[in-house]
Parts: sequence; structure tokens; C-alpha cells
Amino acid sequence: SNIVVLISGNGSNLQAIIDSVKNGAIEGRISAVISNRPGVYGLERAEKSDIPALTVDHTEFASRSDFEQALSQTIDQFQPDVLVLAGFMRILSSEFVQHYLGKMLNIHPSLLPKYPGLNTHRRVLENGDKEHGTSVHFVTAELDGGPIIAQRSIHVTADDTEESLQQKIQQQEHKLYPEVVGWLCNGRLQFKNGQAWLDNQ
Ligand code: GRF
Repeated sequence: SNIVVLISGNGSNLQAIIDSVKNGAIEGRISAVISNRPGVYGLERAEKSDIPALTVDHTEFASRSDFEQALSQTIDQFQPDVLVLAGFMRILSSEFVQHYLGKMLNIHPSLLPKYPGLNTHRRVLENGDKEHGTSVHFVTAELDGGPIIAQRSIHVTADDTEESLQQKIQQQEHKLYPEVVGWLCNGRLQFKNGQAWLDNQ
């Protein structure tokens, strides 16, 4: 499959996906990495692996729809089968989402449907949850609300902080996300009738 990855920052999940493509665990190739923020480290990670690294800077557009038009033009040059949001921090309109429905994945640092949106680790600590985790879902127009494909959980201990939770969660994300991207690439995972279908073979 042909994969395009959208990022806004560090790109550690991008790196995990790059590594899984390189070692053959994902049957596909990453044809481009696109950031909405210039100069972020994830773009360097792409360049180090000879993947085209592009920026579509949202601050250069007058409206969300102008930005999204430029973004989707840039994406569509590469004709991706799979569009991966990896720490991409812009909310996407329903028009944009519709264009990639069933092809677009996101990873979110909570056990959805708990804690959509920002500051998930803080909210977990405030609520005294003993369990936390990360979720991969198909992207629909509802923020962090699309069909959940897979999750990994961690235990929250008394000494955990936002930073330690972030670390624990990212370790899990770096295993989970490449696995799910691989399923969408090899056809084991499909989006049908608004639901996630995983072939259990
Ligand atoms: C991840 O924790 C992901 O769950 C969230 O943003 C973070 C991205 O980290 N959506 P990185 O840029 O992949 O290092």
C-alpha cells in the first residue's frame, strides 16, 4: 500500500511506522510525510529515511477550508491508500474527513471513548483512574469519535505524573500503531458500513 503520514511535531509514532516498513512488518511504502508546522523533528526523521517531507503551514491560510484544500491537494498528489495521522494536531472538517473515509487512521492517548480531546493524562490523574491507555480508530467527523480498531492499556500507579504516563503510553503506541497500519495495508482491516472489521485469522 501507499501510505501518507500527517504530523505536527516530534514524530515518534512516525518513526515506529518507518521502522516497521523497513523491517517488512508493514507491507507498504511511505510516499510522503506532511506537517502543518514548519521545522518539526518529524520532518527530519522522514528526510533521514529518504521520504519526501513537506509542510503545509496552516498559519498561511485565511480559513480552515483554504488550509484543508491545500492539504488535500498535497496529499492527493501521492494517491495514498492509507492516510495516517500521527500526532497531527489540527481538527479536520467533515468534508475533509469524508474524502478519506475508511482510509484515515488516528492514534489517541486514552482508552476511548474516555477522554477525547486534549490533556488526557491530566484528566486520568485528576479522576484517580487506575487504568489508562491508547486507542487507534478510523477518523470520522466526530473528534476522536470514529470506530475504535484496537487499544492497549497500562496501569496507573500512585507515583505516576503526566510525564511518566506520556512515556508509558508512547511505548505502547509505538507497538500498537504500526501493527494497525499493517492491518489496513494488508487488507486484514476494513471499514465497512461505518464500522471497523478485523479479520481474525
Ligand atoms: C501521541 O501520543 C498521540 O497519541 C497523540 O500525539 C502524540 C504524538 O507523538 N495524538 P509523536 O509526534 O508521534 O511523538
